[in-house]
Amino acid sequence: MRAVIGVLVVAGVWMIAGLASTVNAEGSKAKGASPERIARGKYLVQLGGCTDCHSPKIMSPNGPVPDPIKAFSGHQESVKVPEIPKGVLGPEKWMALTNSDLTAWAGPWGVSFAANLTPDPATGIGGWTEEMFLKTLKSGKHLGTGRQILPPMPWAAIGSLKEEDLKDIYAYFMSLKPVRNAVPQPIPPPQPAH
Ligand code: HEC
Repeated sequence: MRAVIGVLVVAGVWMIAGLASTVNAEGSKAKGASPERIARGKYLVQLGGCTDCHSPKIMSPNGPVPDPIKAFSGHQESVKVPEIPKGVLGPEKWMALTNSDLTAWAGPWGVSFAANLTPDPATGIGGWTEEMFLKTLKSGKHLGTGRQILPPMPWAAIGSLKEEDLKDIYAYFMSLKPVRNAVPQPIPPPQPAH
């Protein structure tokens, strides 16, 4: 009898483990993407330096490095940007300023905030299809039809990659742990005084 209970318990644990892994596969949205595709996407993302702008940083003995827990979750909603000192930006002056995370950028375009590229459905790109991802990077417009993507996002260079490469990059992002972080909307530049 004890042996039977033992077998049942083991079977139960195994089933729960199986269920959990199904949920994970669902959660990661990477179903269908082969491990090779995801690995190549990771490789391209490393080369593309996406983490430089899209991940908040933590201090290390070698200076700021991407925070592995919040990797690719964009400019943190809790991090307020300081006011831009008057007269710093302009022609013949500084072109851009950035914060210590390299996730917020001020320039003639106003202030832009690096997007959350994790598959969180509400605040990241979890609701984006592969097609939306490709259209965004190829057109330089949000989802291919929306507003113009602001500097310093190097969409033109990234969007000129082969479609297969962009699909690999998408598959890699979809395989990440979703991080809930609502990145703020860009701040428009101040209107020139009349
Ligand atoms: C130099 C900084 C920088 C680098 C490097 C960078 N990004 Fe961005 N990215 C940004 C900023 C800033 C935004 C927000 C732009 C805006 O709000 O218009 C952004 C936005 C995006 C968006 C969202 C666009 C939208 O319509 O919402 C995607 C997707 C994206 N980046 C992908 C990538 C990928 C993939 C890489 C690497 C291959 C990358 N980025 C590298 C700064 C950067």
